[in-house]
Amino acid sequence: MKPVEILKDIYWVGAIDWNTRDFHGYSTYEGTTYNSYLIMDEKITLIDTVKKEFADELIINISQVVDPRKIDCVISNHTEMDHSGGLPRVMHKIGEDKPLYCSKMGHKNLTRHFPQKWNYKPVENGGELSLGKRTLTFIETRMLHWPDSMFTYVNENRLLFSSDAFGQHYAGLERFDDQTDDAVMGHAKKYFANILLLYSPLILKLVDKVTEMGLALDMICPDHGIIWRQDPSKIIDAYVEWSNQAPKRKALVIYDTMWHSTETMAECIVDALGQEGVDAKPMHLRRCHRSDIMTEVLDAGAIIVGSPTLNNGLFPTVSDFLSYMKGLKPKKKIGAAFGSYGWSGEAVKLINKELDAMKFELIDPGLKIQYVPDEEGIRACYELGNKIAQALAD
Ligand code: FEO
Repeated sequence: MKPVEILKDIYWVGAIDWNTRDFHGYSTYEGTTYNSYLIMDEKITLIDTVKKEFADELIINISQVVDPRKIDCVISNHTEMDHSGGLPRVMHKIGEDKPLYCSKMGHKNLTRHFPQKWNYKPVENGGELSLGKRTLTFIETRMLHWPDSMFTYVNENRLLFSSDAFGQHYAGLERFDDQTDDAVMGHAKKYFANILLLYSPLILKLVDKVTEMGLALDMICPDHGIIWRQDPSKIIDAYVEWSNQAPKRKALVIYDTMWHSTETMAECIVDALGQEGVDAKPMHLRRCHRSDIMTEVLDAGAIIVGSPTLNNGLFPTVSDFLSYMKGLKPKKKIGAAFGSYGWSGEAVKLINKELDAMKFELIDPGLKIQYVPDEEGIRACYELGNKIAQALAD
């Protein structure tokens, strides 16, 4: 794709990855982009690179604006390889001695990824760099979402290069929020739920810090997806809402099943919840991707997990999901477990242990039914659904 001038003398020169469908375990049904930006000032500056496989495309894009050898410096806001993988190719092209600005932790991390002795210029939080007509301010954003992450702010343009924050895995020809529909907020929500959720407390602190600094924002340029220019406050407000994790009257019944007994239980629990006016849905772990389920978890008040007992343990997809969800540290949930079993029936106990470790409020000891739910078993599922609905009403 040709470069796009996003503001006078500032260009998007990144790459669109139309075909990626898995981003380290996160489903990317609509691909993604690796955004790189070129500032044509007295010091010509490149902000972030792209995934290694797209480095040549980045260089071609830059060449349509300026001879890459004229680039004076590079800024690396974040070391993860989808943004730094293209650095060796870029540095080789523009000149290995050109200054490479990054956070102090970025310096450490980049040297752990690349053997080249580049001309590193570690910057302080609040440090500035004059490009001529513009001045850049660097803002450390440690653990959002890597220890080295930072933002780069263009004072004169009130523009924030926000690294991964406010990004979305979405590949499209559009470069701006005003060229897309509301679906982009869904992509942003999924990105938040699967990449940033565990850092919610830090995000709230960062928003406070940015507010205290009085940082005006006319444009937010993340490293993935579209640029926010129509109303940057929309995505910031959404981040505050998502970080607060206020639970809705919504329940997810997440399960897997062997011979449909646990599935029957799941559907009865959902039916009971629906009858009580709860926004409820079943999510089968071999039909729904873990990253899509996690997006739904974000604002759900109740997480109900079901598993058959397999070889004295959990069904593997249930273990996988619980491990994934645990790492993302969702808060303010109530939880319960259920499942059918043949002869030993450990699954419910094991799920309870995991939900308890996640600090979910367990509202029931759990429901286990041997083999196939009979009339009494079905009734017990409805009772569990009603109990969850009641707990969500409190
Ligand atoms: Fe898009 Fe953390 O890399």
